[in-house]
Amino acid sequence: MAGWPDADLPPVVSRLVAAVQDLSRARSAEEVRDIVRHAARALTGADGATFVLRDRDQCHYVEEDAIAPLWKGQRFPMTACISGWSMLHGEPVAIEDVFADPRIPHEAYRRTFVQSLVMVPIRSDSPVGAIGTYWSVKRKASSGEVAILQALANTTAVALENVRVYAELETRVRQRTRQLEQANEELEAFAASVSHDLRAPLAVISGSAELLDMRLGANLPPTERKLLTAVPVQVKRMSQLIEDLLRLARLRQTELRLAPVDLGVVAAEIGAELAAANPQCAVAFTVEAGPAVPGDAALLRIALENLLSNAWKYTRKAAEPRVAFGRREEVTGPVFFVRDNGVGFPAEEVGKLFRPFQRLHSSADFPGTGVGLSIVSTIIERHGGRVWGEAAPGTGATFCFTLGRGSNPPF
Ligand SMILES: Nc1ncnc2c1ncn2[C@@H]1O[C@H](COP(=O)(O)OP(=O)(O)O)[C@@H](O)[C@H]1O
Ligand SMILES: [Mg+2]
Repeated sequence: MAGWPDADLPPVVSRLVAAVQDLSRARSAEEVRDIVRHAARALTGADGATFVLRDRDQCHYVEEDAIAPLWKGQRFPMTACISGWSMLHGEPVAIEDVFADPRIPHEAYRRTFVQSLVMVPIRSDSPVGAIGTYWSVKRKASSGEVAILQALANTTAVALENVRVYAELETRVRQRTRQLEQANEELEAFAASVSHDLRAPLAVISGSAELLDMRLGANLPPTERKLLTAVPVQVKRMSQLIEDLLRLARLRQTELRLAPVDLGVVAAEIGAELAAANPQCAVAFTVEAGPAVPGDAALLRIALENLLSNAWKYTRKAAEPRVAFGRREEVTGPVFFVRDNGVGFPAEEVGKLFRPFQRLHSSADFPGTGVGLSIVSTIIERHGGRVWGEAAPGTGATFCFTLGRGSNPPF
């Protein structure tokens, strides 16, 4: 809001509004103290102001802004000073003549310029501190002055609470990051051992079966020979599964490298590869993806490879297979989609698809390991986006995704 606080406001209100705005932006206790000591003095036109914090049974005079030194850095018992009185009673106090008031430790005041004061507690129930303002002359503060100082103190209480919450959140984020790093390290170690420990025996099983087939195959009855030759086929499937799982594990760890990505170009390249690899199905493929969006090019390529290869796979039996990669604009940003006119799937099953190994079609009809869409969802989530599927059997499938708030131009 430009020009706010308004020039029409009385100066004291403008100054209070400015202090409230500054306090709402403060992120550390030091900033809060600094804002408050200056604001308290300016708001009342006092000769000095102090910022006092309660430290168990002591008052700690942490900051001041005054024409001459007051008590910065000193501590007094709660029961032996006026800030303590204000905190213990949870109420403001205005004193016209400090040397005539029995609650004041006169010794501590004789060395200062102070003749009169106003003290307000920060937070009325169980106060955490107090704000003091001081004058070098005897004067009776108006109730308006006290009210303004109390308003400043109330905002200070909120600002201090915010600072505490921020600090706590930061600590928690740091802890969570550490935990995540540890989990990632464990996952990495696990992935490495899985890849090594599982692959080695698989190679032996498959090699032995092939060797047996070579030596004995010709002499085996057809049923037994079929059983034997099934071994390397299934071993290959299992290797593919392990490969896919490792890929999924690695995806969760790699850091995103964001740059503008032209998804249309990427999709067209993948389409050309799929067409070359599946010459028997003449898929009509259209791409309309609009301008580039920020993303990790390598990861988004993997996501699109999975979505498009699914579209190719599940349209295999269509008379005129059609696949489209498109984009539509919504208020929250672009939504990309891969649409096909293949076999589709029952709409109520859509929730399962993005979990590893969940497949709705048999491997005899459509081969696969059921990891592809979990890879897609991991990649999209890492971009802060969302992925979902829409389909009905026989009418094809559409998979949509967003790339989070970052995909709103300008990036
Ligand atoms: N374009 C699609 N049309 C119909 N079903 C699909 C499509 N894409 C994915 N599915 C369903 O979602 C399941 C999971 O997909 P995915 O994780 O890629 O595994 P896979 O391709 O190995 O089967 C598939 O088994 C299939 O049942
Ligand atoms: Mg797949």
